[in-house]
Amino acid sequence: MRFTLKNFILLFKEIGYNEYRDFVLHSIHVAKFSYLLAKELGIPNYDDVFIVGLFHDIGFITLNELLKLINSLNYGDLTKIEHLENIDTHPKISYYLIKNITFLEKDAVEAVKYHHSEFSDKTKERFIGSIIKLSDIISWYFFKIKNFEDYAEVIPSLWQKIEKIKMPENIKKVSLNILKNYKIIDKLVDNKLHFETFKDFSVNLSLRESINFTKIIALLQEIRSPTTKDHVFFVSKVSQKLGEYILGKADGMILKMGGYLHDLGKLKTPLKILHKPGPLSEIEQLIMKKHIIDTIDMLNNSNFENLAILCGAHHERLDGSGYPFGLTDEYLNVYNRIIAIADYYSALVEPRPYREALPYKKALLILKKEVDNGKLDNKIFYNLKNLAESDESLQKISYIDVLEDIFGDNLKNIFSITKKFFD
Ligand SMILES: [Fe+2]
Ligand SMILES: [Fe+2]
Ligand SMILES: [Fe+2]
Ligand SMILES: [Fe+2]
Repeated sequence: MRFTLKNFILLFKEIGYNEYRDFVLHSIHVAKFSYLLAKELGIPNYDDVFIVGLFHDIGFITLNELLKLINSLNYGDLTKIEHLENIDTHPKISYYLIKNITFLEKDAVEAVKYHHSEFSDKTKERFIGSIIKLSDIISWYFFKIKNFEDYAEVIPSLWQKIEKIKMPENIKKVSLNILKNYKIIDKLVDNKLHFETFKDFSVNLSLRESINFTKIIALLQEIRSPTTKDHVFFVSKVSQKLGEYILGKADGMILKMGGYLHDLGKLKTPLKILHKPGPLSEIEQLIMKKHIIDTIDMLNNSNFENLAILCGAHHERLDGSGYPFGLTDEYLNVYNRIIAIADYYSALVEPRPYREALPYKKALLILKKEVDNGKLDNKIFYNLKNLAESDESLQKISYIDVLEDIFGDNLKNIFSITKKFFD
């Protein structure tokens, strides 16, 4: 399987519903405007500025829940969390998340730390940081454009605003020139990516880079549903380990991606149903089941057809009793079977609002019954049993594991950024 940068940019746009609508629109505004500014200002790696612009606020959207998690692990006082949103921590969290994308040039990645600092052209990263900062301001004006009538008010007031701000002269001049370009202004204001006007981004990514992008998308589920995020991180770990054990390393990595994305459609499931602390009614169950269709659609819309097939069958059962299509064993490949078992197992060993986490041995007994009833794959079940018995990290969900998966070697830096708020 080959993935391109374009796939992931499209997928990022696909999450722009519900709580994410404004966040995604703002991110797309900043990506497009920063890209043009960087290109016109002669920054050689202006492609990277698009990606950094797109992700400049990911630390913001994940900040609160991440800090709560970090706090609950290490520190005591949750009351201080309430004041954190006023503090400029999110550029640093964004930075440590974007840093995982290894092909981006260092100065573009560093720049994200400065997108709320004063305008400056002292260093290249401060200069790119200023480009993102200005694009950020411009985006909030673009938000005021709800129909074409609004251009008459918004563009002149944006123009005046830019003229008043103290910033490097070349950034000011080029940004005003871009705003003068009536041929593309609609394309800067809307929520589309306009690959034909900007960049196509059809470059192939390595599997490792693809995983890092997927992880960012998976992490963004945090803000809406921390339990869903924890779930998909655990499923990705179980799927990867099973895949590696049965098929080999590369397949393990593909399954890791599948694990991160398998429930993406839950971003569209109403929270009243997704987080209901009790059994769902029949009609609520149907609305819940829709998440699988949404997952398939979101992946297909991002041209991830293979991942849609891989992720879209995790609720199917070998005897045809699953959903959404009632597929039977001859249609379910080894990837589908691995994700189905990993998903079922993970759900059992995770805590739910209406029950405690089950001990892994009990979870395995429940799975065994499903195997005996012809619903889950026998061989994969025994592989999981072997792995779980010898690997503690598969026995229960660990929040530190999730943080390590997200931040890797940078976790200690994240702790030090957040620690000062709790001391
Ligand atoms: Fe920001
Ligand atoms: Fe922003
Ligand atoms: Fe699911
Ligand atoms: Fe799931």
